[in-house]
Amino acid sequence: MKDNKGFELETYCVVDLDAFRDNIVEIKRWVEDREIILAVKANAYGHGVVPICREAWNTGIRHFGVATVAEGVAIRESGIDGEVIVLTPATLEQVEAIVEFDLHPNVVSETFANALAAEGQRQGKPVGCHIEIDTGMGRTGFWHTDAVGDILHIARLPGLTIKGVFSHFPVADSQGSSDIEFTRAQLARFSRIVGELEKLGIKPELVHFSNSAGVLDHPVFGNGIRPGILAYGLYPSAEAENTVRVKPILSMFSRVIQLREYPPGTSISYGRTYTTRSKERIAVIRAGYGDGLRRALSNRGFVLIHGKRYPIVGRVCMDMTMTDVTGSSVELDDRVIILGFEDGGSITAEDHAIWAGTLNYEILTGISERVKRLYKKGEWVVEASELPYLAEYDQQE
Ligand SMILES: Cc1ncc(COP(=O)(O)O)c(C=O)c1O
Repeated sequence: MKDNKGFELETYCVVDLDAFRDNIVEIKRWVEDREIILAVKANAYGHGVVPICREAWNTGIRHFGVATVAEGVAIRESGIDGEVIVLTPATLEQVEAIVEFDLHPNVVSETFANALAAEGQRQGKPVGCHIEIDTGMGRTGFWHTDAVGDILHIARLPGLTIKGVFSHFPVADSQGSSDIEFTRAQLARFSRIVGELEKLGIKPELVHFSNSAGVLDHPVFGNGIRPGILAYGLYPSAEAENTVRVKPILSMFSRVIQLREYPPGTSISYGRTYTTRSKERIAVIRAGYGDGLRRALSNRGFVLIHGKRYPIVGRVCMDMTMTDVTGSSVELDDRVIILGFEDGGSITAEDHAIWAGTLNYEILTGISERVKRLYKKGEWVVEASELPYLAEYDQQE
């Protein structure tokens, strides 16, 4: 696989935009006419924010959720319209950019709301915001018991429109009975507050609560949902119900850069944590933790070559990883699948998460910047910078 300068890439990802579209279609089928606020924070969970937003736009998605002002500005600078909600509270110093780039921040304090309204007046622009109500997440937002008074104050600020109110679940992905009860209590609190606001004449365009787990396992409250991981084809936890059928859209590839046969008793890699038990043929792969292949996979994980799993032996290094390919026909330069499917074999971000003792979210967002993301659309596999064909694709539809 070559990059757009003609250099052969050894370690890269391919994001299947058609599969992404299929996932969105499945989510839409499940939630019917609700608005999707697509979580595209952390570079669209490592998939590349601009191509993902473009493709999402083509499926009719008009709302995007980012974590930082910089992520929101990147979306705006790529020419994507629609509503960009900065889900993580921004700093007071960022209100100027928020208003300039027409981002809708999460307002979690009256001080921030006042600063935002004042900045809107200064720039002579109407400003929109979303208000988070903490119904039990224990993180950000107005605490549910006194949220209504605070929201009332914000609603009266000149030039500032409350576009949405929302809340977030900490345990919607759990099937434990006390967790289910907790999630239900959160929904009841939120519904009560939305009802009270309505009585006071505050009716935001969007009311949203459900993340992927909320979509999968609980009734959806409001007219919007905020899925992330599900859109990228993964489930929020092993316990979450697979009520919506999705498939992973990102594959990660590398290459064999050296092969050597060692006699028994030879130690492999840093720390000498693996010693060959017999005559073993060890392949070196050009990917390591500097690419996002977790060091925790040392002597635990696997890679896929020609559809077959081979064990990672010894410590994963920053740029290289060793695998035991004894008895195989693996050759120099052969393609290695770090994440993906081939000939009935598969290795998923879930597998990596289990091996590394973490979450699939962390595996995806941990794929580093130096790993080029390519995009598959129909027969094409191209770099993000070569994706203007998506614009033509838009017009054809
Ligand atoms: C506020 C908020 N909404 C939505 C999401 C999307 O969550 P998920 O990827 O579990 O669907 C997140 C992600 O952590 C979030 O922090």
